[in-house]
Amino acid sequence: MSSKPSPDASRTRASLPRVGFVGAGRVANALAMGLSAAGYPVSAIASRSSKSVRKLVGRLNASGNTQAIETDPQAVLGHADLVFLTVPDDALVATAHSLQASPEQSIVHCSGASDVDVLEGLSTQGALTGGFHPLYLFAGLEDDAQRLAGCSITIEAAQPLASTLREAAKALRCKAISIPAGQRTLYHAGANLAASSLLCVLDEAVGIWQQIGIAEADALEALWPLVMGTLASARQKGLPGALSGPVSRGDDRIVARHLEALDSLGSDHAAFYAALTQRAVALARRRGNADPETDQALTRIDDMANQYSRKS
Ligand SMILES: NC(=O)c1ccc[n+]([C@@H]2O[C@H](COP(=O)([O-])OP(=O)(O)OC[C@H]3O[C@@H](n4cnc5c(N)ncnc54)[C@H](OP(=O)(O)O)[C@@H]3O)[C@@H](O)[C@H]2O)c1
Repeated sequence: MSSKPSPDASRTRASLPRVGFVGAGRVANALAMGLSAAGYPVSAIASRSSKSVRKLVGRLNASGNTQAIETDPQAVLGHADLVFLTVPDDALVATAHSLQASPEQSIVHCSGASDVDVLEGLSTQGALTGGFHPLYLFAGLEDDAQRLAGCSITIEAAQPLASTLREAAKALRCKAISIPAGQRTLYHAGANLAASSLLCVLDEAVGIWQQIGIAEADALEALWPLVMGTLASARQKGLPGALSGPVSRGDDRIVARHLEALDSLGSDHAAFYAALTQRAVALARRRGNADPETDQALTRIDDMANQYSRKS
């Protein structure tokens, strides 16, 4: 990852939109600091508590890149051309409903899960509305803006707002990706699978090892290099290319023994493994280079896993 956001040489400071934030938490701090470092005038901040606004305004003004003021949510819209609603998801609808927008003003939220439609009242007033979702887990660290560099930001907006947001993503040294209107729920489910669901698979592995007497800490220490190596390999070779293990080799006898052993533990251990095994078969097939014998073994594995996944 690269270090600091830098001004985009192609845009002068005067031509960049004035930026405001409603909600002064983790995302607002990272975006405000990143955008101001990139030359954007971050002009006004509002939040629920004065404490969090003052902290962010203090950081911005101390950086020497911009001059921000503390104000109330409605006044942010008077001071900014591009407003980020960075409140928690459950406060988004109420916050959006409390605001009166001017035509051509740009107002976006940063939630991955909430529809852009939650800003419909503002678009009815003539504002340009959209979604600007950074695919990054903000921990509230001082250098979150620098850590964000190299990540992707998912944009849902019509033109001309889409271009404005793509430029903002570029200024943050992020890659902009677009999703069609109305597809946020599936988009967010996919992101959740890639992040939290990975942890659940690892938790299942650790739990199984615990059942044979390996302590959680020891299990995790032993598994980390395997996990990180697999992810590094997948990044290099692609998902089908990085697949290893018995499914990858078409070793149906080993898979049968795994399923039997997991089934003997009760609960849904075998069903969970079986569902993942069927996905592994699909990945192995996507490599497209299986000889007829391996291909037959993959079919046997798929049938066997199907039976176990139906047992749950
Ligand atoms: N955290 C992440 O990793 C992450 C990643 C991508 C996207 N997002 C999205 O970004 C948005 C903001 O998340 P966050 O993590 O920055 O949340 P956060 O750290 O909890 O900050 C939210 C901020 O909004 C303020 N606030 C709460 N209710 C408010 C209201 N009714 N009016 C005005 N301000 C209010 C909070 O209160 P105080 O003023 O009392 O501090 C706080 O400063 C969410 O939509 C979230 O889904 C988060």
